[in-house]
Amino acid sequence: MSNEKEMIVDIVMDHETIKETTKSNKKSKEEQPKELKMEKITIQDLPGVGAATAEKLESAGYRDMMSIAVATIGELVETAGMSEAVARKMINAARDSMKMGFESGMDILKKRELVHKISTGAASFDTLMGGGFETNAITECFGEFGSGKTQVGHILAVNALKEDSEAYAVYLDTENTFRPERIIQLAEGAGVNPENILSRIMVARAYNSDHQMLLAEKVDGLVTEQQKKIRLVVVDSLTSHFRAEFIGRGTLAERQQKLNRHMHTLAKIASSHNICVYVTNQVMAKPDQFFGDPTASIGGHIVAHASTFRIYLRKGKKGSRVAKLIDAPNLADGECCFEVQQGGLIDIN
Ligand code: GTP
Ligand code: MG
Repeated sequence: MSNEKEMIVDIVMDHETIKETTKSNKKSKEEQPKELKMEKITIQDLPGVGAATAEKLESAGYRDMMSIAVATIGELVETAGMSEAVARKMINAARDSMKMGFESGMDILKKRELVHKISTGAASFDTLMGGGFETNAITECFGEFGSGKTQVGHILAVNALKEDSEAYAVYLDTENTFRPERIIQLAEGAGVNPENILSRIMVARAYNSDHQMLLAEKVDGLVTEQQKKIRLVVVDSLTSHFRAEFIGRGTLAERQQKLNRHMHTLAKIASSHNICVYVTNQVMAKPDQFFGDPTASIGGHIVAHASTFRIYLRKGKKGSRVAKLIDAPNLADGECCFEVQQGGLIDIN
């Protein structure tokens, strides 16, 4: 199992379980009544963290023990200008403070019951996805230009908000392809008020990969500070900036590293706030491939491993689209066929 997936499991298993105290404040807590021991500890309780460091960390998005526990030493050094030794101590203390233990299968099953499934509007596509696009997961959709990746993003936004009148959707647009007009058509097709839907989609245009990463990091604050109930985050496209900015073999490692960090941010958002993260990805030609599909998705195994579900979209006969589920933790691989129409997706048998 890759590190990314392990991390995701850790986050799923452990958020909301901050119950114990760090060594540094253990003594004083021992003298307190029992129920106070369960009190949530803050970043300032960690060794080596004064008010200034805590402020730096918090403004960079490290607000709770989990964010420190899953951070890398390099990240903390860069963010707060501390030494590596201090960063290591902090991370270890944060990890010690959390009950990073095991849960029973029943506990996990209970958490699974909180998962929402966002409909695509096409019954066969929903069935392929086990009922719809899941929250608490990243779904990657890759395919050639015009295969319908952006359309699916728009449709998920409409349906996610149709299903929950208090929910919001975030749309990170890297290619300037978000179209409110299209949302209006799809909302009308789904029988919901287009203006109401549009008012609950928060669109941000990302101008380069750093900007895109920053915007993704800001989503956490929308939930924790602005108390917005975010149901869906669309990143369309996940890889276009990375692809354009890192050209040539020499830059591949750096690109993958950044992409890895971005995927971590998205995984954290998905699992800590029960959000459906939908990312689109282009394919590139593999001229050396003679058998099977001569295309490969960008970002390679980094994106593939961090995604819970992966869908390959392609153009089918007579304007139809074929979606193939190629990676899912609990669903059989399979295919379905649909058509994009003005009001939404329709099944094709
Ligand atoms: P790239 O971003 O270029 O990689 O493509 P994509 O996979 O995001 O494709 P996108 O989702 O933009 O699909 C575009 C296609 O959707 C068009 O070529 C049309 O076939 C279809 N489409 C988009 N809008 C409509 C519409 O209003 N009515 C109908 N019938 N089809 C539409
Ligand atoms: Mg697109």
